[in-house]
Amino acid sequence: MVGEFVKLKRRGANYLGLCPFHGEKSPSFTVSPSKEIFKCFGCGKSGSTITFLMEHEKYSYVEALRWLANRYGIEVEETEMSDEAKAHAQTADSLYIINGFAQKFFAEQLFETEEGRNIALTYLYERGFTDSILQKFGVGYSPDVRDAFSKAALTNQYNPELLLRSGLVRSYHDELQDNYRGRIIFPIHNNSGKIIGFGARIIGKKENAPKYINTPENEIYVKSKILYGSYFARHSIDKNNECLLVEGYTDVISLAQAGVDNVVASGGTSLTVEQIRLIKKYTDNLTIIYDGDNAGVKAALRGLDMALEEGLNVRLVLIPDNEDPDSYVKKVGANAFKQFVQDNKKDFILFQLEIMLRDAGNDISKKNEVVNRVADSLSKINKAEDFTKQQEYIKQCAAILKIDETGLTTLVNKYKRDSVAKQEKNKAFEDQVKEQETIESPDVFITDNDELQEKNILRVVFEYGLKPFDEHQTIADYIFNEIQAFPFDNNNYEQLMQLYETQYRQGLQPTTKSIMYLLDNKMQELVANITLSKYELSRQWDERLGNTKKEQKVLDKDVSLEDAKVSLIYFKLRKIKKMLEQTQAELDQSKVYEEQLKLMMVYKHLKDEEKNLTTELGAVILK
Ligand code: UTP
Ligand code: MN
Repeated sequence: MVGEFVKLKRRGANYLGLCPFHGEKSPSFTVSPSKEIFKCFGCGKSGSTITFLMEHEKYSYVEALRWLANRYGIEVEETEMSDEAKAHAQTADSLYIINGFAQKFFAEQLFETEEGRNIALTYLYERGFTDSILQKFGVGYSPDVRDAFSKAALTNQYNPELLLRSGLVRSYHDELQDNYRGRIIFPIHNNSGKIIGFGARIIGKKENAPKYINTPENEIYVKSKILYGSYFARHSIDKNNECLLVEGYTDVISLAQAGVDNVVASGGTSLTVEQIRLIKKYTDNLTIIYDGDNAGVKAALRGLDMALEEGLNVRLVLIPDNEDPDSYVKKVGANAFKQFVQDNKKDFILFQLEIMLRDAGNDISKKNEVVNRVADSLSKINKAEDFTKQQEYIKQCAAILKIDETGLTTLVNKYKRDSVAKQEKNKAFEDQVKEQETIESPDVFITDNDELQEKNILRVVFEYGLKPFDEHQTIADYIFNEIQAFPFDNNNYEQLMQLYETQYRQGLQPTTKSIMYLLDNKMQELVANITLSKYELSRQWDERLGNTKKEQKVLDKDVSLEDAKVSLIYFKLRKIKKMLEQTQAELDQSKVYEEQLKLMMVYKHLKDEEKNLTTELGAVILK
């Protein structure tokens, strides 16, 4: 049973694997099938099948029982269950059923109706998709009619409340209307094949309409945990001991059609820790395949740090010529694509090198700096058994830098001698860090707990969420997008943010008042407190930010945009500061050289990010 969630290898009568409850690199998680118990000798967690499901799948006791019952065809009598848990489980179950119904409806529309065939299927054929791959992934079409799906769902007695919650429909003048009209529908499956939500793509291009509409967060659709395609890819990932990561739905499907089926998509954002842990259940080897454009690369880089922290071996492949994996595999064919990926896999160091080089451009002195930094990095790979690895790196780096290999070797050796001369293996970096800290440490007001910043960002969303950020998005859109890489510490604040987002995504235009209406007394109090917190924070900021703001206050201008920007920067700075502290602590602990190198890279990347944010802050404040 446990083997369905954790990759296990047989050891005598037991099974051994990587513990899913704590990050570990060598397996100490043991399962005894005969006794139906598990124990991790690393973190000490142990228990029965039931506790495993509760811990690992975050099931409630009853949900765990039910899962087992389902699996083994046993009837379970439902007894104790808090009202809240019951409601949650029931909603989740209903949403699965609605989504299943919707998927069938949309697929039928795609394949069996004139509109579907003429408009959507033709478009998909033009893009080279076959019937069988579209059917495998359950792709469908939502007709360009106000309420085609709504009608079908109501005719079939589905509950309007739940239909709203699914994000498939919205309410307009007391009537239900379809949310994904005239769009191709990509269902998203969880690891047991149930449909948790949808991505709905516009056909062709349209102004003022988002390319994709995705399911809002609800009981079953939790964005940070979704890896599109993982249901179809997991066995292949296991078999190949490698997971390919792409950005989009169509990339996954195209590659699968070409026979590359160990592939999942992150949905165009940077990887979350949850997604990385999902991958780690199956393999340690992650290969990120992104198009070479800037946004994609940045997203990749952000995910990378976390992936390294979680101990994944990360490699990157950039697809050339403004192609994405989907278009590229169609252009060059399956074999050439696989070959390209094989030939162009780069690990972290080489990828960083390429980015630095790109930034340096034709500037000779900058390029010189890059060469030195690379040599310095490479000199730190100095364990005897890594000699070949270092040689290989030197060779590859020299080729990329278009410099002489022996020249680079000499430079690497010089750095090595320098640090040996100091007889302090890590000192060089520590100095560098200290130096950076004294010079660059942002002189900004960051409180020592995350919660204040979380509360503040929540306040901004409640207060100005619906106002425009620019011509494309509202302040709420902007903030949701920007904060998704940063987990909240405070559960209540997180819940409120999710509640707002869900309401907002359903087009309900939430206000403090309308949200309050949905909450119990305790949470209402919290919201009131958040909304009032403006004064407490902004007073401190005013003091901190000095006189620059005074004029504006006198004029009493609309400062929503500025407030949103500044609040977001403070929020991120706080989160990054914490990550820096964690990385530093890990670095202090680490005895393995390679790991230290990785941590240094992570540290440096965070430092750079911090610096960027500080600069940004200055720009907003002084404008
Ligand atoms: P892409 O724009 O690369 O889309 O966004 P795609 O999947 O390759 O689609 P085609 O090939 O143009 O048809 C990558 C992913 O980012 C998310 C989706 O998950 C998409 O698959 N995305 C993109 C959104 O959620 N919303 C958007 O408006 C755009
Ligand atoms: Mn694409």
